[in-house]
Amino acid sequence: MYNDNPTLDGVEKKIDEAKQGEVFYQDAGEEGGKKFYIESYGCQMNFSDSEIVASILGEAGFSPTRNMEASDLILINTCSIREKAELTVRKRLRIFDKVKQQRPGMLVGVLGCMAERLKKKFLDEEKLVDIVVGPDAYRDLPTLVAGAEDGNKGVNVFLSREETYADISPMRLDSNGVSAFISIMRGCDNMCSFCVVPYTRGRERSRNAFTIVAEATNLVERGYKEVTLLGQNVDSYKWENPETKEKVTFAELLVMVAEVSPELRVRFSTSHPKDITDEVLYAIRDYENICKYIHLPVQSGNSRILKKMNRTYDRPWYEQKVDRIYEIIPDCAISSDIITGFCTETEEEHKDSLSIINYAKYSMSYMFFYSERPGTLAERKYEDDIPLEVKKRRLSEIIELQNNISRSENLKDIGKTFKVLIEGDSKRSDLDFKGRNSQNKMVIFPKKEGLKAGDYTYVKVTESNSATLKGEIV
Ligand code: SAH
Ligand code: SF4
Ligand code: F3S
Repeated sequence: MYNDNPTLDGVEKKIDEAKQGEVFYQDAGEEGGKKFYIESYGCQMNFSDSEIVASILGEAGFSPTRNMEASDLILINTCSIREKAELTVRKRLRIFDKVKQQRPGMLVGVLGCMAERLKKKFLDEEKLVDIVVGPDAYRDLPTLVAGAEDGNKGVNVFLSREETYADISPMRLDSNGVSAFISIMRGCDNMCSFCVVPYTRGRERSRNAFTIVAEATNLVERGYKEVTLLGQNVDSYKWENPETKEKVTFAELLVMVAEVSPELRVRFSTSHPKDITDEVLYAIRDYENICKYIHLPVQSGNSRILKKMNRTYDRPWYEQKVDRIYEIIPDCAISSDIITGFCTETEEEHKDSLSIINYAKYSMSYMFFYSERPGTLAERKYEDDIPLEVKKRRLSEIIELQNNISRSENLKDIGKTFKVLIEGDSKRSDLDFKGRNSQNKMVIFPKKEGLKAGDYTYVKVTESNSATLKGEIV
């Protein structure tokens, strides 16, 4: 099986796992006050945004609940990246409709990328929807909700050039108390021809570096051990201090966050190959707590297709980047996103995507077949001419090869000892812990008295498969 949604799969799993752990927000239950229920789809940015939304609603007197039937407001934070992501949202809306019929006065709000893409059309297409709010308009939610309570359906899909929600302290939803996301930038100024994100998230802007460090510091004080710095294109982070005019680059920001505490692991996502600099690689090399893992989506291994995708690099250039990463950080893991069956892709060009997996030795990849998105450059200029069966067959070939590479790369880890951050009980057995090494690989190992989620331990790998390493504490 392939994942339909890149980060959704990873994050959904993470959140699912987190539910077994300690809960950091109080479920309002049946008692007093108005309650909201929120579901998130799409990338990590959306999950992070939902925590901002929760905080804004918290200030307005709402409290979160996991019980949809007991809520006064159902929110769905949506994704538009592929057609399937939007279909999932439509299906959820049918379910909300049933709940709403049992609970007069309940409101339904659509947030995120699909809200931004469809705007007011949402209200015409989906009668049950009361409010539609785009990614830059969440501060307006309390006002829109109040309006909807008075019977006025509301839409705010204004895209901002400034909004970064810098001052908002996210309410950590479904947290395991170990790892948290920190949003460092919003929007995207790249124009990859297949991608809807620039239209749904607007122009790129970077968040005040000091508020990012403050958020990391606060998380450390609350016992968190890992942060992931989030943006569509983190390497183009650039923030200018309005007072001193000093500029902070992504490499500098990484170091600032790493220096918050040596006990805090720092991860980041996503890197655009064209923007990742040697300074970023040196920071990863020089700081033990900056994880040796880079998600570096290639999209295609063929230069002609890359040009058509408007990725701004070609295959030799990408290969050089990979070489440079392994040269500076020999123990770094690299992962990727790959699209099969983009407009006009030939069998030969598809083979180039297979061979780039071999070349880069990705630890894993998120793999998709091309899904045409309304309004994108590709939709306007190119014909979506690869038959669905061909797209899917190419996808299965890519998945098979990636699994083989992951398996053989993981075999090389047998006998090695890794520092692992314990995330909680393994899914399969509560006699085992699960955690990750710096390379972001999942490690399963028997528990030891005195250790708990959030602790570091050293594990020697004794077994592995394409997805996980197994071992013992040493
Ligand atoms: N900003 C990130 C990507 C965010 S979208 C980056 O540039 O790497 C996550 C992934 O979804 C992309 O990397 C791409 O592989 C995939 N994707 C985006 N648009 C798609 C489409 N129209 N069809 C199929 N996959 C798509
Ligand atoms: Fe989409 Fe490209 Fe921006 Fe990534 S960099 S969000 S793929 S336009
Ligand atoms: Fe989806 Fe929007 Fe993220 S389209 S992948 S939720 S930026």
